Amino acid sequence: MAKDVIIACDFSNAQSTLDFLDKFPQGTKPFVKIGMELFYGAGPEIVRQIKSRGHKIFLDLKLHDIPNTVRKTMQVLSALDIDMTNVHAAGTIDMMKAALEGLTRPDGSRPVLVAVTQLTSTSQERMQNELLIGATIEDTISQYAFNAKCAGLDGVVCSPLEASIVKKRCSSEFYAVTPGIRFADSTADDQVRITTPARAREIGSDYIVVGRPITAAADPVAAYNRCVSEFLG
Ligand code: C5P
Repeated sequence: MAKDVIIACDFSNAQSTLDFLDKFPQGTKPFVKIGMELFYGAGPEIVRQIKSRGHKIFLDLKLHDIPNTVRKTMQVLSALDIDMTNVHAAGTIDMMKAALEGLTRPDGSRPVLVAVTQLTSTSQERMQNELLIGATIEDTISQYAFNAKCAGLDGVVCSPLEASIVKKRCSSEFYAVTPGIRFADSTADDQVRITTPARAREIGSDYIVVGRPITAAADPVAAYNRCVSEFLG
């Protein structure tokens, strides 16, 4: 898959999501991220509806459970014809291997599978004091990415500022899917480790995940087009 901009459709119901996508002209079919809020609220039907309109879908459910449960859940998700999904790398290599097995369809095809390393909301202090993980956050992200690669996954979700750590440890082909994107002239909201679409491209992001700078813009289509031209050049 080529580099792309993924819109985080963080809406609470199907109608708001479809109304938002209706703003885009017929020929423009952005890659869409469906997260827990929308999936749990609207159910698998919203995935089918968005897919039938011609969009690629990143189903961001961040699975983290015992390997058998993750394998069987991934089997269900792969039948939805999604293009990308994810697990928590903290679930261990065995769980990630099970996810990959479950996701692989009978014909051998499968969606892209990436692992969340450390959530950008987890600080090093909390990781060390609450979770008793003594390593630095950078070393943890590097090791989690390496584990994901060993399990056969395609890449990780990380902050754009961590993409170079991941590429160095794994390979330049290993995907870095990066939220935390803001235009140079927009607000940070609750994001801390942020960068612009152009800078994300320079430091190696393969897919940028952009929510509010597009969904809350006065003109979402213009904001999406700006993101695409800054990121893809
Ligand atoms: O609105 P905003 O651009 O901040 O949205 C970013 C999206 O990426 C949200 O859907 C958020 O849940 C997701 N995300 C994130 N940080 C992570 C993992 C996912 O912001 N570490």
